[in-house]
Amino acid sequence: MPEKKSPLFFAGTSHPELAGQIAKEMKLALGKIEIEKFPDGEIGVQLLENVQGRDVVVLQTIARHPNHYLMELLLIADALRRASARRIIAAIPYLGYARQDRKEGNGPIAAKVVASALERGGIDHLLTVDLHAEQIQGFFGIPVENLYARPLLLKRVADVGDVVVVTPDLGRVKLARAFAEDLKADFAVVDKRRVSAKQVEARALVGDVRGKDVLLVDDICSTGETLKMASLVCQKAGAKRIFAAVTHGLMMGSALESGAIDKMWITNTAPSPSAVKKPILETVSVAPLLAQAILAI
Ligand code: R5P
Repeated sequence: MPEKKSPLFFAGTSHPELAGQIAKEMKLALGKIEIEKFPDGEIGVQLLENVQGRDVVVLQTIARHPNHYLMELLLIADALRRASARRIIAAIPYLGYARQDRKEGNGPIAAKVVASALERGGIDHLLTVDLHAEQIQGFFGIPVENLYARPLLLKRVADVGDVVVVTPDLGRVKLARAFAEDLKADFAVVDKRRVSAKQVEARALVGDVRGKDVLLVDDICSTGETLKMASLVCQKAGAKRIFAAVTHGLMMGSALESGAIDKMWITNTAPSPSAVKKPILETVSVAPLLAQAILAI
């Protein structure tokens, strides 16, 4: 029997901190690779070690500069394939474009475009965290492991005691129910309508939060508008304290500054937001979750 070698672990430039944490968890050194950005914006990649016949994991989160990091990942995958890697496993904690998972008007299905590009780019296996919609797995013809951040977030949330779990988005009812079952709590729903990419309207609250603490749960916080509007609806409905637990803290806007959230937990599927310096924010690392899944594959 040939000797079973441990996987090689490479990272793109999207999230060096998480790459370091995962490498530490797996007790592996990061693979040597040179990635540079040319003056015209193009990307250059050079593998600096032999990958022939090896299983290779590449960490790249497609957040913040999704187009750049997606292209970088495709170039790394192509370099690995041409250097005869045995299997390429992409660990993409935040799969950018996942929210565009159906045809709206005359638009594209961007999530499907990304899935096809990754697959044709030579990725054999995908690991990701809290996909925006489970059915996106069906856009891929390769195995997709969708890992859940809920247990990691729950460990922190457990300290807040009795809460009503509230989803600020109808699409997250299943997530809210799962949190509510774990916390043995009730759950409620905010009726939200998206007016534009940067603006949402939260109308009514279906459920009762009067005199209670609230835990808002969602998969993504991007502009923060959804959480802000939901927190204000809960405040108006008589909630005591308002907490939030969100997997992907993109935190692109400053909307939360004017919301009513007392404390918020996010994971590090995207790099730390530099714009949001509020003390309410606490980050939970997904490194142990990803390391465990990589080793299991
Ligand atoms: C929507 O489907 C998601 O679950 C989030 O509610 C949404 O992506 C949040 O976006 P934003 O922070 O920009 O309101």
